[in-house]
Amino acid sequence: MNGRLWHFVGGSAGQFQVTSVTAISGETLPAAPRLFVGQEAPPPSSEAFRLLGVVSNERYATRSEKGELVARQEAMGRAEAREGAMIAIKKNDQWWAMPQDERRAIFEERSRHVQIGMDALPQVARRLHHCRDLESDAPFDFLTWFDFKASDRNIFDDLVACLRDTEEWKYVDREVDVRVVRDGG
Ligand code: HEM
Repeated sequence: MNGRLWHFVGGSAGQFQVTSVTAISGETLPAAPRLFVGQEAPPPSSEAFRLLGVVSNERYATRSEKGELVARQEAMGRAEAREGAMIAIKKNDQWWAMPQDERRAIFEERSRHVQIGMDALPQVARRLHHCRDLESDAPFDFLTWFDFKASDRNIFDDLVACLRDTEEWKYVDREVDVRVVRDGG
């Protein structure tokens, strides 16, 4: 098993109840009552969508940004963080045609992605999965996965609103925001 591979399956089974599926840009994903997130093969269910992503090395964060992130961030799966979001994102050809230094300039120097994100730590925990190189014609480039307490949902909503207003997001041509609540609690 590839220890960095994660399945996100919308269907009739899974640890999370899906509360909304919203297309922010481009085509939506089919509605599903449950979301399975895991590293093993998902349980049998009637599937509406199945997405795959791998946790990978970092591309953009500098040494000092990484130090600050490690100092502030929490791991995913805190017992009290029962709400979550899986936001699937595809960037356009113009983004991928740029060299790394130009992408970094847009991502951080001009859009301040890490600095904006840092303000939501430690209330929001995150994990980034890459999909672009897993299959030709992958429907998304990234699966982003977050959890937070219900009482911190406004911090998450403000964060996504801020990011969607940046220059970086001009290169996003498909984005689907799936909100979930974990069973139990
Ligand atoms: C919770 C606060 C957040 C922090 C601290 C944060 C931080 C980061 C960092 C450090 C990276 C770069 C990783 C690398 O060096 O390769 C990154 C990438 C990314 N983040 Fe965030 N982020 C946050 C929230 C979000 C949100 C809410 C979204 C989606 C709406 C998002 C979407 C992405 C995407 C798509 C990438 C990959 C960009 C690319 O490689 O082109 N992030 N984030």
